[in-house]
Amino acid sequence: MTSILGISAFYHDSAAALVVDGEIVAAAQEERFTRRKHDPGFPKQAIQFCLEKAGLGPQDLDYVGFYDKPLLKFERLLETYLSYAPRGFRSFRLAMTEWLNRKLYLRRELDRGLQKAYKKRYIFTEHHESHAASAFFPSPFEQAAILTLDGVGEWATASFGIGEGNRITLRKELHFPHSLGLLYSAFTYFCGFRVNSGEYKLMGLAPYGQPVYADRILERLLDLKDDGSFRMDMSYFNYCQGLTMTSAKMAKLLGGPPRKPETPLSQREMDIAASIQKVTEEIVLRMARHLHQETGMDNLCLAGGVALNCVANGRILREGPYKEIWVQPAAGDAGGSLGVALFIWHQLLGKERRTGAFDSQRGTLLGPSYGDDEIRAFLDQRKVQYRTLEDDELYRHIVDHIVDGRVIGWMQGAMEFGPRALGARSILGDPRSPEMQSVMNLKIKFRESFRPFAPSVLRERVQDYFETRPQEDSPYMLLVAPVQESKRKRAVESRDVTGLDLLKIPRSEVPAITHVDHSARFQTVDSERNPRYHALISEFESRTGCPVLINTSFNVRGEPIVRTPEDAYRCFMATEMDTLVLGNCVLWKEEQPEAERKAAIGYERNFELD
Ligand SMILES: [Fe+2]
Repeated sequence: MTSILGISAFYHDSAAALVVDGEIVAAAQEERFTRRKHDPGFPKQAIQFCLEKAGLGPQDLDYVGFYDKPLLKFERLLETYLSYAPRGFRSFRLAMTEWLNRKLYLRRELDRGLQKAYKKRYIFTEHHESHAASAFFPSPFEQAAILTLDGVGEWATASFGIGEGNRITLRKELHFPHSLGLLYSAFTYFCGFRVNSGEYKLMGLAPYGQPVYADRILERLLDLKDDGSFRMDMSYFNYCQGLTMTSAKMAKLLGGPPRKPETPLSQREMDIAASIQKVTEEIVLRMARHLHQETGMDNLCLAGGVALNCVANGRILREGPYKEIWVQPAAGDAGGSLGVALFIWHQLLGKERRTGAFDSQRGTLLGPSYGDDEIRAFLDQRKVQYRTLEDDELYRHIVDHIVDGRVIGWMQGAMEFGPRALGARSILGDPRSPEMQSVMNLKIKFRESFRPFAPSVLRERVQDYFETRPQEDSPYMLLVAPVQESKRKRAVESRDVTGLDLLKIPRSEVPAITHVDHSARFQTVDSERNPRYHALISEFESRTGCPVLINTSFNVRGEPIVRTPEDAYRCFMATEMDTLVLGNCVLWKEEQPEAERKAAIGYERNFELD
C-alpha cells in the first residue's frame, strides 16, 4: 500500500488531500475546521481528518508533497522588490517578515505539523504543476489539453500543457506581474470587495451592468495578443510595490476613486464588473483556442482560481473548439494539495491511470461525514427537539416544506471539497418562488440582495430547463448556461428599470435561479454520485413537475461552509431557516427553545465580510 499526503498552505485556502494506491480517499480545507474563511495556516486539522479517515498515522505515510516551491516564490518577491525599490519597501517588509518566520523554514514547519513522526522525504511541485495535475489526473479524459490560470504562484500566472495517460507536460507559461487572476482581483478591489474572496461577487454583479469600460481596458491596460497572452501596463496597478491593488491612474481611467467597502453599489461598479468580465472571457477564449491549435486535443482541463469563473467556462464549452471540458472543483489553491499527491503517484512513481465514465473525484464528496448515531448523540446531548424519518418519508416531508415556501438546511454524508456546496452542506428552497432570492439573501445569508442563487437540476432533465447538450454534466456547479427559451418569461422591459431594480422582474418559471441575463450557474445531480440529493429532487419533481431546487452553501456571509452537526445547528438557529435536516433527523424551527434562538442573535457578526 502506498499512501501519499498532499498539502497546500501559507497562501490562502490551506488544505490536505490523501491518495492511497491511486484512490482519492479524503480531502478537506482547513477553514472548515478552524471556522476562519480561506484560512492560510498549516492545515493541521485537515491532515488529521485525512489520516483518521484512512486509519493511518503520519509515520505510515510513504510520501508527503507540498504544492509549491517556496524558494522560487522567495526569489520572485525579492526580485519584484528590487525592481521597484525603494517604493515597495513597506509591502516587501510585510511579506518578508512572514516568509522569514515561516515559509523558508517549511521543512521544519512540515515536520512539526506531522508530529515529527514522518521521516521520509518531502516532494515539492511547482504551483502551476500542482494546479495542472489537479486538473488532468482526476478528469475522465485519457488525453487532454490543460490550462491553468490564477493570481500567481512562484512566477507563473498561467500555464499551458497536455496530459496523456499518466503524465502531464507543461509547455508554456505567462509570468508575473502579468496575471489574469491579479487583473480580476484588482477590479474586485476597485469595486470595494475583498481580494481573494470577493471575486465571486464581482462576477455576480456583472450581468447588471454594461461593459462600457471594456474597450478602454483592452486599449490602455493590456497588450493582448491573438494567442491570449498579454502584458499589463503596470502603471495602473500597485500590487508589485504598494499595499493597494490599483494606482491613482486607474481611478482616473475609470472616472473616480475605488468604491469604499460596504457603501451602496452604483451603476458604475456594475458597469466596471461587466467590463472586466467581458475582458476576462475574451482572454480565456483566446487562450483556449490557441491551446487547441497547438495541441489538437478534443478535451480541455482547467484549474487555478480563474477556472472558478463559471461564465467564462460556459463560453469555452459552448463557443470554444473543445468537445468536452473538465474543471477541477477545488480549482483554487486548496486543490493544489490533491494535485501534488496525484502528481507523485502518477508522474513520479509512474503508476497507471485508468479513466472511466466519471472523473475519479467521486462527486468531490471527500470531507468529514457524520452518521445518524453521531447526529442523534449530539442532538440528545443538547436536548434539541427533532424527529427521525425513514428515507421515503423524509423526502416526502421535506418536499412538503419546500413547496410551502420554507427554507431548508440540508446536511448529508461527506462534506464537499472545493468552494461550492453540492447537496451535502446546502441550503435549499423552491426556485419557482419570485420572493426566494431576496428572502434567502437577506434573512438567511445576511448578504447583498443581488447575489444570484444557483440551481441543482436532475441530470436527466437538464436540457428541459437549460440550453445545454442532452444530459450535460456539471456536477460541480462550474458552468453557466442560458435558461431554456421555453421557460423564460417575457419580462416587461423598461428603460427606467436599471441596475439592481432589474432583480424585481421575474425572468422565468424558475425566477430565483435565473440571472438578469437569463443565465444560470447550474449543477447537474445524478443518482450514482449523489443518491440522496437526487432522490429529494426527484420527489420535488414528481410533486411539482419541476426538477430544479435552489442550492446555496450552508453558511452565512463570511462564514466557512458548515462541517459538523453542531455548526449546522448553530447556523440554523441564527438565521430564518425553517427546517434543518441532518441525515435522517429533522428539526423544526418553531419547536426549538426560544432561549436558543435568542442566544443566536448576531451570530453573523462573528465573521468578517468578504
Ligand atoms: Fe494558485
